[in-house]
Amino acid sequence: MKILVVGKGGREHALVRALVESPGAHEVFCFPGSAAIHELAKPVPADGLDSLIAWMSGNGIDLCVAGEESYLVTGEGLANRCAGAGIPCWGPPKESAQLEASKEFAKAFLVRHGIPTAKATACGGYAEAIDAIAGCYPTVLKFDGLAAGKGVAVCPDEASAREFLDEVFTQRRFGDGRLLVEDCLTGPEVSVFAAIVDDRYLVFTPARDYKRIGEGDTGPNTGGMGAVASRNLVSRETMDRITADIVAPTVAGLRSDGLPYRGFLYFGLMLTPDGPKVIEYNCRFGDPECQAVMPLVRGDLAGFCLAGANGELREDLIDFDNGWSVCVILASAGYPESSRSGDRISGIENNALARVYHAGTRIGADGSWETHGGRVLAVVAGGSDLATAVTAAHAAADRIHFDGMQRRRDIGILHFTNS
Ligand code: AMP
Ligand code: GLY
Repeated sequence: MKILVVGKGGREHALVRALVESPGAHEVFCFPGSAAIHELAKPVPADGLDSLIAWMSGNGIDLCVAGEESYLVTGEGLANRCAGAGIPCWGPPKESAQLEASKEFAKAFLVRHGIPTAKATACGGYAEAIDAIAGCYPTVLKFDGLAAGKGVAVCPDEASAREFLDEVFTQRRFGDGRLLVEDCLTGPEVSVFAAIVDDRYLVFTPARDYKRIGEGDTGPNTGGMGAVASRNLVSRETMDRITADIVAPTVAGLRSDGLPYRGFLYFGLMLTPDGPKVIEYNCRFGDPECQAVMPLVRGDLAGFCLAGANGELREDLIDFDNGWSVCVILASAGYPESSRSGDRISGIENNALARVYHAGTRIGADGSWETHGGRVLAVVAGGSDLATAVTAAHAAADRIHFDGMQRRRDIGILHFTNS
């Protein structure tokens, strides 16, 4: 089978590797990929959606896998264009990807289908937002559009709310758009992934993401500084409740709203004292959760995605390991405010303890790996219990060095020893 993966980050490196390792002789291509992904998947000579679709049509691609969300909502949408060209695509069409691209759209969907979520008011301007907050702090402010993970602020007081509102409505930091004022929920977060094929679904291994840059969950939000995944991350009872109250009604809601869906859907959840509630949908796998989950997936992921893209949910093709997986991110100096490139990386090779996925690396002039962006590497190790996986992942991360490296040493420890 000829498979093309769209994206360039650590998530796509993990997806490409899982597809390459699927049984059967698959030829994997990528767009745009990265130097590390190009070691496993051939880069495609395209410079946008038009040339990508033309190349896939001309080269007999059997399956397009959408890794990154941006392509799903760019132009007419990657999946829509694939459909037009008769190429099976694992990833939803643009109209359904609004669940991620517009927080107002997602909130209206959740409310319409009675799916538990925080109460929210959509606002078009600064004064309207201040009225909606009505002096209730903490409050959560969410820019309506895609904002590369920077569009949400949890504001403890009026000063921080005014600062964020100023960025959104005065400076237009994220461009034009509305804003949601949302009730602040409390509780542990969990990322749940479902593979959805029309009216059917399969829930993958859940994960927990560590969003803040600093140990003890301090400092600014990032794309994710680490993740833990396991079937045993949440109790069977909670998982059953998430499936019944959240996943199943979401799939039914997509059907009744006439929103086609074949691909991964990510449910960002908070386990509140009143039960699990949705804080966001993403129309793709999580990053870095994907890097933690993929090593736990057994069987034929390539065949599963192809069957799914063609409308068949083949649960029999994959299975999930019962163990634990821990992913430690190594980020560059200055992240998340800025990112430094060009620092030489040592210790990646022969790291037998773990899988090392590349998120932001390139090959330097001397032929060795160097940093190229914010999050640089994801170091992932597993074990039959959490402690084994934590020890292995951190020991493997200890072997890797580059100047200015930022890493959290409490990944897999915080939220597991305190709760
Ligand atoms: P999002 O981009 O929607 O995932 O939001 C980023 C982060 O903001 C989440 O991972 C949560 O930690 C936090 N957050 C979002 N919505 C809420 C909420 N309603 N209450 C409390 N925290 C939230
Ligand atoms: N780890 C959070 C995300 O992928 O959005």
